Amino acid sequence: MKTYIVGNWKLNFTVGEASIYLHKLLRKTSNYRGIEVVVAPSAIALQPLSLQIDRHKMKLCAQNAFYRDYGAFTGEVSFSQLRGLVDYAIVGHSERRYILGENDKMIAKKIAAAIRNKIRPILCIGETESERAFGETADVIRDQLTGGLSEVADDDIDKVMIAYEPVWAISSVKGAKLAGPDEIAEAVKIIREVLTNIYGAESAKAVPVLFGGSVSSSNAGAYLTVPGVNGLLIGGASLILSEFTDIIEVAKRVKE
Ligand code: PGA
Repeated sequence: MKTYIVGNWKLNFTVGEASIYLHKLLRKTSNYRGIEVVVAPSAIALQPLSLQIDRHKMKLCAQNAFYRDYGAFTGEVSFSQLRGLVDYAIVGHSERRYILGENDKMIAKKIAAAIRNKIRPILCIGETESERAFGETADVIRDQLTGGLSEVADDDIDKVMIAYEPVWAISSVKGAKLAGPDEIAEAVKIIREVLTNIYGAESAKAVPVLFGGSVSSSNAGAYLTVPGVNGLLIGGASLILSEFTDIIEVAKRVKE
């Protein structure tokens, strides 16, 4: 399986800044066999950046989109509008769940809309600090996974990626802590068990599972060697060119 290195720029960079960053990133990146580099700029930058990007080197990702293709939905951008512009879309990020009120039902519809429009969804799941403290981590993972995948047919599971992002490990969360390799391995094991129960062992094995939460060039190597982890979803560190390119280099070394 490929290793996926995904930079989530969140609500940062103007279109001009995003374009300059991408220009520099493209210059510093070559086409790495076995590594898929992906960047997720703000929605407004996706169209211009889709003209600028070299798809042999990296791919574009949306941070979100709406589940209906068109209609009276003021302010939304649909997956069908993004079709052809992006290859991936982050769906169900914890910031959308907890700041913008997205629930598993909406997330399931978004996953289905992404697949329908030939965009590969990255379904984000993960427990909060208090859920972990109350021993609910496994239940939260199971619920968010089964909820988010509820509209995905057997034939389509190979189009989905999962990102395990414990909310308490996300760098922008107050008092964020680094997740330990064992905690991640345990969560990934539960994710594969759930996938196996729904889709069978063979399909479950083929679904890429990424880790995200305060990933940097100094811990990327440790996280990429956690059993079952196939890549990284990187927020803060992806905004710093040298950090992001260093993480790609680490991924290359781990792959070799
Ligand atoms: P972080 O963000 O790397 O800044 O912790 C990760 C994410 O929220 O996807």
